[in-house]
Amino acid sequence: MKYGFFDDSAREYAILTPKTPYPWINYLGNEKFFSLVSNTAGGYAFHTDARLRRLTRYRYNDIPLDTNGRYFYLQDGDALWSPGWKPVKADLDSYECRHGFGYTRFNSSKNGLRAKVLLFVPNGADAEVQMVTLTNESRAAKDVTLVSFVEWCLYNALDDCTNFQRNFSTGEVEILGGAIYHKTEYRERRNHYAFYSVNATPVGFDTDRESFLGLYNGLAAPQTLLDGKSANSVADGWSPIASHRLRCTLAPGESKTYVFVLGYVENDPADKWAPAPEPGLLQPNHRMRVLNKAKALALQERFSLPEKVMAAFDELRAFWDGLLSRFTLQTGNARLDRMALWNQYQCVVTYNFARSASYFESGIGRGIGFRDTSQDMLGVVHQIPERARERLFDVASTQFEDGSAYHQFQPLTKRGNADIGSNFNDDPLWLILGVGNYIRETGDVDFLKVDVPFDNSETNKATMFEHLKRSYNYIPNHMGPHGLPLIGRADWNDCLNLNCFSTNPNDSFQTCTNKEGKNAESVMIAEMFVYVTPDYVQMCRLMGEEEEAKRAEDAAAKMEAQICNAAWDGEWYVRAFDDAGRKIGSKECEDGKIFIESQGFGTMAKIGKDKGYPEKSLDSVKKYLDSKYGIVILDPPYREYHVELGEVSSYPPGYKENGGIFCHNNPWVIIGEVVNGRPQDAFEHYKKIAPAYLEDISEIHRTEPYVYAQMIAGKTARRFGEAKNSWLTGTAAWNFVTLSQYLCGLRPTWKGLEVEPRLPEHVKNAQLVRKFQGVTYKINVINKKNDGAVSIVVTNGKADVDGTIVKAQAGQKEVSREVTIG
Ligand code: GLC
Ligand code: GLC
Repeated sequence: MKYGFFDDSAREYAILTPKTPYPWINYLGNEKFFSLVSNTAGGYAFHTDARLRRLTRYRYNDIPLDTNGRYFYLQDGDALWSPGWKPVKADLDSYECRHGFGYTRFNSSKNGLRAKVLLFVPNGADAEVQMVTLTNESRAAKDVTLVSFVEWCLYNALDDCTNFQRNFSTGEVEILGGAIYHKTEYRERRNHYAFYSVNATPVGFDTDRESFLGLYNGLAAPQTLLDGKSANSVADGWSPIASHRLRCTLAPGESKTYVFVLGYVENDPADKWAPAPEPGLLQPNHRMRVLNKAKALALQERFSLPEKVMAAFDELRAFWDGLLSRFTLQTGNARLDRMALWNQYQCVVTYNFARSASYFESGIGRGIGFRDTSQDMLGVVHQIPERARERLFDVASTQFEDGSAYHQFQPLTKRGNADIGSNFNDDPLWLILGVGNYIRETGDVDFLKVDVPFDNSETNKATMFEHLKRSYNYIPNHMGPHGLPLIGRADWNDCLNLNCFSTNPNDSFQTCTNKEGKNAESVMIAEMFVYVTPDYVQMCRLMGEEEEAKRAEDAAAKMEAQICNAAWDGEWYVRAFDDAGRKIGSKECEDGKIFIESQGFGTMAKIGKDKGYPEKSLDSVKKYLDSKYGIVILDPPYREYHVELGEVSSYPPGYKENGGIFCHNNPWVIIGEVVNGRPQDAFEHYKKIAPAYLEDISEIHRTEPYVYAQMIAGKTARRFGEAKNSWLTGTAAWNFVTLSQYLCGLRPTWKGLEVEPRLPEHVKNAQLVRKFQGVTYKINVINKKNDGAVSIVVTNGKADVDGTIVKAQAGQKEVSREVTIG
């Protein structure tokens, strides 16, 4: 069942009912000011860091679901309603929510009154702009009241929901004209504040939650709305909010537009205060010093008129069109073409937010993951290379001298987060993958020569290349009894905690360690080591390090031989060895006989190709792991908790790492299928988890049909097919790599752009556009037999063609080619 549709020409997903199977959200902001917005106007805003600089309050896992947001109330005669349906939940005559790239709009009506709301964060502004247009579509004049509402968070989102003994006494506000200022803690160590303004003179306002709502009312029926007048409350402690009351009379056909700005300001410590209170200023206590509002007023002025808002909105749309034009796909198959667009959008959002803030991540728990962000890079490096470079620098700066790394770091401080610790032995290799992809895309070889700190030290630095060298060599320096890499705390599978041995329910699997870590080994790390070697070797040669290059080639050959020798199970690659030296992911095991990760990396790295291992492994994936809704992570799921395996065996069968469809690693198998010559199988796997293909079963899948989710309940789960953890997942980047580099076959290589499309059979002809190193490559694909030979004809310009690699000549800006497959 569908709950909306892709409006392809508008580049929007239009949602036609507020009662979607789960809140379907969007993200606003692309620089420092960010907001989450659901299809019922729920969500929250923050600046830079969802944990440390939260601006508006959200209630996680509350009832009813998705409580708190930027809410508008409309009062028109006896009718009280909200354009986003919530919080009032009155029946609407019409409702539509459209999520676009970096913006969301609502268009609803009731009793002849139409409300259109446009929400976005303009580029270069620390603010969410909200434009509300009310139109009287009835035949009689209307007196309409519009009431706004946001609830402030006291900045530190964790403290905000735990430390009530202090927080109920710290709230401070100022009110001046149409602007409500939130200045809690500004007096002491903060030099930032937030505000919520409207470009009109309100007839009332509220800044104290209890006065606005009434102590025992919910957001659906605030006391001040029932009473028909604001309390004009000036918050003093408790829970500060910002609410404006506006009134207008609309003749039939008449419209009125208001602009609200939810803004954030930082002042220099020397400029924190205004010399004296402005005339008309309200605050709870005349002894308080007054905010310097210069920057806030400038922001309010910048969006003071609808025309100014629309100009900023056009800029935002042009910005996204630009980003999304660097890879485009036209196949005539609407679902595939949509994936090219929406998948790239999700990649940028995921890059911006890492794993911090979604409807499944509270924004409190996790910073930026070392491994996660190195992979997120793969999805954005063609769109925002400068920012990818900056992030890779930040990531590498948290690395330790021995090549290992903190598993996470906080975006605000950029420092390693010791709470989650280190010792995930796959982490170092992801840095090589991230940097390698960045340089192949951009040609920015000098990045290897940049000095980068170890553990954020200003005095202990080495070149980026040296960091990669330590990363690479961390693996051979930490080997186990079978000649395979030690796993440490875990590898990509965070829940394969082979040294944890926890029997205490109060331990975190992610930090608890009861073994020395000298035995448990990861086959996946071994395969990854082989997989990243070609990039590493190339970077060694670019740095003139021939000896290191040769050493790496030898080390990888040895590693491959050792995998074949110790970790081939007959039909598939073993996953790991536990502390006692027993196999994990083998036919010898009772549960967890086969895992996806070692099949994915084993087949991408073509381990044991001469012996036919990749093909056998891929066949086993189909036989044992594949299902109607995608490939499960392992099978059969663990029925019992295994102390020697950790968190993986803690989940009920079919969920998360215990047999869920972990979408993140499906693409590894899909890529494995392509590089081992089986493109049709690749596509069959691809479409099972691609959200645009799941739109028709939204009632089963439940999360947004325009973005990937981290996990779909696996075949043994009662809720088989139900997704969770949408949006922020490595799934986005890896599926984009799959689509653009393997199905479409446009791969940035060290020598130029490789063109080797392996599109599904039903796509007979496709137009691909790829911007690469300043050149626009336009490729027309004739797909006769998708696993056949590739022949390339250059139809304009004098590009060099070398096998499947095309390289524009110096000065050339555009290359068109016709490529025939089969
Ligand atoms: C989550 C984590 C990721 C990990 C995966 C598997 O998606 O963000 O780092 O690899 O789970 O455990
Ligand atoms: C939990 C999740 C897992 C995630 C890990 C790290 O264990 O189940 O998927 O990778 O946390 O945060």
